[in-house]
Amino acid sequence: MKRIYVDNAATSYPKAPGVSSAVKRCLDEVSGSVNRSSFANFPEAQEVVWETREKIAALFNVPAAENVVFTMNVTQALNFLLKGLLRPGDHILVSSLEHNALMRPLLQLQKQGVEFSRVRGDREGRVRLADFEAQIRPNTKMVAVTHASNVCGTILPVEEIGELCARRGLLFILDAAQTAGILEIDFQKTQAHALAFTGHKGLLAPQGIGGFVIDSELAEQMEPLISGGTGSLSEQEEVPPYLPDKFEAGTLNLPGIYGLHAALNYLENTGLEAIRAKEQALARILMEGFTNMEGVVLVGPASLEDRVAVISVDFPDRDNGEVTYKLEKFYGIQTRCGLHCAPAAHKTLGTFPRGTVRFSPGWFNTKGEMQAVLAAVQEILADS
Ligand code: ALA
Repeated sequence: MKRIYVDNAATSYPKAPGVSSAVKRCLDEVSGSVNRSSFANFPEAQEVVWETREKIAALFNVPAAENVVFTMNVTQALNFLLKGLLRPGDHILVSSLEHNALMRPLLQLQKQGVEFSRVRGDREGRVRLADFEAQIRPNTKMVAVTHASNVCGTILPVEEIGELCARRGLLFILDAAQTAGILEIDFQKTQAHALAFTGHKGLLAPQGIGGFVIDSELAEQMEPLISGGTGSLSEQEEVPPYLPDKFEAGTLNLPGIYGLHAALNYLENTGLEAIRAKEQALARILMEGFTNMEGVVLVGPASLEDRVAVISVDFPDRDNGEVTYKLEKFYGIQTRCGLHCAPAAHKTLGTFPRGTVRFSPGWFNTKGEMQAVLAAVQEILADS
């Protein structure tokens, strides 16, 4: 049975051509560690690392490569940003669509005296700028939001939120987990102070490599969540004060960076416009098919323009887990069922605690696969 993978919101599959061979080449051929090794063969690896920073900087229109910091993923990046910047007494605004990658660190910080408010989205996951503005308090320091919901795909108005933050003197942190590599993101235009990204979703790179980009002034104020050896300023026991070393203690994930480098080359040649257009075409097939199918409730915005290709549905007369199981067992269709690590988003959308079955096509899916998905769902629903 041919596998149809439609869980790209969790992690992309397959990865970009060239990624696995780049990872293998690093493991097989590169001896040494970034900033630690001056072996004759190592400059190439240092160059790949630096070039990867440059490519990320170019992708997000960040002025300098040193403003790109590598972490494992968005979760780690958000932990760095929130825990490094928020102090007891500070207030932060988030949307009610956030993933636990943001909510769980915030709940930890709340125990230390950080306050947060949620700006409630509607049943389609839309948030209103006026609701952000209305909830700003004298002690509000920061607004942090996801660029697009990992549950229903709704794209948030991040440029407007950035403009509001600039006008009200607030920090703006953007979680690009679901949009990096899919939507054009201009760090400077959104007026974000930091942006968290992961390699393993839309960037088509391996798991375990991601990071954040950060404004230089903010980086100076931010405490490093993790400190340790950086291979630089080794005569000192204090962490180096400069980017990116300040936030990169410990040995970097060099194979992951090689993979990300190859994936970014592929994305540069493919173009985000083509990726977005294809993903929308695939999403359109699923959305139209599900809208016209009895026994299926489509969650999230009706308009394709307002979402990325993350299509959540509920089968009210069925057990969603059972439909998910049958999709894989009998049709090889891989989806993700449940709450998607985002209980607040499901509460907003009215799908908590039941959850949804999420179909998230990606760049390597085909229109034929989308038709096969619809036919399989129809057959499962017809079978009593
Ligand atoms: N955040 C990922 C998801 O939505 C893991 O599935």
